[in-house]
Amino acid sequence: METTLVLIKPDAVKRRLIGEIVKRFEAKNLTIRAMKLMKMSSELADKHYAEHVQKGFYGELKAFMTGSPLVALAVAGPDAVNLVRKMMGATKPADSAPGTIRGDFALIVTENLVHGSDSLDSAKRELALWFREDELV
Ligand code: RTP
Ligand code: MG
Repeated sequence: METTLVLIKPDAVKRRLIGEIVKRFEAKNLTIRAMKLMKMSSELADKHYAEHVQKGFYGELKAFMTGSPLVALAVAGPDAVNLVRKMMGATKPADSAPGTIRGDFALIVTENLVHGSDSLDSAKRELALWFREDELV
């Protein structure tokens, strides 16, 4: 069993897609171990996106991610890290296959609706940033 961090990004919340996205993970029979609606602080953005802070697109990404509420979830199941990434689809909406969350609903790269940890190590690091141990059921 693995647990991964999923973010339902601000564009998805604004578009009323929280239920649609949670529904897909539940339909797959994954387990939701924690879930909260909140705003990402500037400090949390810099920690969460440590690998991206130096990149040219980070300013736009940070403004988008901290600008309005998102939903953070801890999602568990066998191979949950890779499975969730597969269900999300490729980063660039033009590359994401139909049937994936991004493939079905996203049109531009910054506003691509969801985040999923990209490895088990990333998942552990990110989950610790977003949830206290006692918040995971
Ligand atoms: P995520 O971290 O959100 O799950 O997405 P990812 O692994 O598929 O993509 P990553 O390379 O980690 O990029 C993180 C997020 O930054 C935005 N982005 N913008 N304008 C650009 O060229 C660009 N590239 C990436 C996207 O919101 C991407 O999901
Ligand atoms: Mg990433």
